[in-house]
Amino acid sequence: MNYTYILKCADGTLYTGWTNDIEKRVKAHNSGKGAKYTKSRLPVSLFYLEEHESRLTAMRREALIKRMTRSEKMKLAETKKKILLVNACVRPESRTMELAREVLGHLDGVVEEVNIEKERILPLTNAQMEKRQAACDAGVTDLPMMKYAWQFAEADEIVVAAPYWDLSFPAILKAYFEQITVSGVTFKNMGDGSYKKLCKAEKLYYVMTAGGPIYDPNLGYEYVRTLVSEFYGIDDTTLFTAEMLDVDGADVPGIMKKAASDIEDFFTQRQ
Ligand SMILES: Cc1cc2nc3c(=O)[nH]c(=O)nc-3n(C[C@H](O)[C@H](O)[C@H](O)COP(=O)(O)O)c2cc1C
Repeated sequence: MNYTYILKCADGTLYTGWTNDIEKRVKAHNSGKGAKYTKSRLPVSLFYLEEHESRLTAMRREALIKRMTRSEKMKLAETKKKILLVNACVRPESRTMELAREVLGHLDGVVEEVNIEKERILPLTNAQMEKRQAACDAGVTDLPMMKYAWQFAEADEIVVAAPYWDLSFPAILKAYFEQITVSGVTFKNMGDGSYKKLCKAEKLYYVMTAGGPIYDPNLGYEYVRTLVSEFYGIDDTTLFTAEMLDVDGADVPGIMKKAASDIEDFFTQRQ
């Protein structure tokens, strides 16, 4: 498959290109080897993606989009559903991300990625907490620190990719939830123990892989499922897994293939 893509750079500017391997290409950009333009504007995230059968069509489309103004490019992206990929995978050769890409391949829309580790999203400090609380109390919800919360609140569909770590998920995912649980953006604390649910998304996919068995209850998925339902109002969640990947003699390609085929079956049955 060939792709025409638009990246959003760290300074908010857009970069258009084409490729036949989108995952590799975005990685190349983020390691400073994609283009001179993006090298000094890292990190970049995938903002818009079109699939093309032929290489020539993808290249022609690239040339056409490159001639568009910024607002035309923004409009192009707005016509599509916003899919947010919350990437909590720490290892560069992540198998969880491999499965998440399978899921994304079945979704129709513009994928925006938040790579928690690369973007250095850290646990809330007391100073941040106080600043945020004061802003929320004053009804101010447009502080720069709230950008991830807005991105999450405005997404149409969400894919969370997180490996099974220490029976749940990497701590960076908890840090991310601390940063996006902002009263007046993703939810509203009504003060009587109830929450007004403010997120637009109706569907969230949780993708995980594990080295051994996944215990019941699944403390990674169950935490996320409860949080997004009770606080943000996202009631429809689906879990995709691959487990026993690190046990002696594991048939890793076989387990991954089976997990990819479960994903394929899920989307075929939904049609
Ligand atoms: C810090 C750390 C903690 C882990 N904890 C668990 C665990 O509690 N249970 C388990 O089955 N596998 C555990 N694993 C193995 C990973 O879940 C497994 O290798 C997974 O496929 C990694 O996903 P990735 O390829 O996306 O990085 C752990 C791995 C790491 C690095």
